[in-house]
Amino acid sequence: MTQDEMKKAAAKAALAYVEAGSVIGIGTGSTANHFIDLLAQMKTKVDATVASSMASAERLQKHGIRVLDLNEAGQLALYVDGADESNHQLHLIKGGGAALTREKIVAGASDKFVCIADGTKLVEILGKFPLPIEVIPMARELVSREIVKLGGKPVLRPNCVTDNGNIIVDVHGLAITDAKQLESLLNQIPGVVTNGLFALRPADVLILGTPTGIQTLTAA
Ligand code: A5P
Repeated sequence: MTQDEMKKAAAKAALAYVEAGSVIGIGTGSTANHFIDLLAQMKTKVDATVASSMASAERLQKHGIRVLDLNEAGQLALYVDGADESNHQLHLIKGGGAALTREKIVAGASDKFVCIADGTKLVEILGKFPLPIEVIPMARELVSREIVKLGGKPVLRPNCVTDNGNIIVDVHGLAITDAKQLESLLNQIPGVVTNGLFALRPADVLILGTPTGIQTLTAA
């Protein structure tokens, strides 16, 4: 089974959480793309969606699925999105696709966050995947210096402008044992829009596609 087939299997399993006529949040990335394509084929239709990126909004609209602005939609019942890493507490690293800020906003506005991924994303300690941070361009050097003080190695992501017009700094070399504390700390640095740790608002359910089938983890 390929990694992509495992992603698709996880996306398919997440359809069980979708209620007909509801308004749901949709994430970004290749796993979320599988979910969008499968959602379009579902018999029971959602009323509308809120997208965490321009790319996902475009894909949803191509399928004829209505996309609302979050301010119009209000509180959402469900958010479905992928991740770059998850630990067993369902604390995540996200932002490999540079959409972390909008993803965190939509997750924050959702009652239930169902994360979908292939089994390789489950780790003991977060941080092997470089932690993405969205930064206001003029603060690039200031933020980078502060990250070095915290023991990380900041690397500017080349040719990347976020949907919000900002840059991404990827932080290498972190072994994240207290994700909630680091998430708060990084967000205090002036110029940081947000960072890719989803620990203060973790996933509620993690659906993993593995070679032996679907594995579902829930937050303790
Ligand atoms: C987008 O910014 C990310 O948070 C994605 O959710 C994450 O990178 C997972 O991507 P894949 O589903 O493509 O692995």
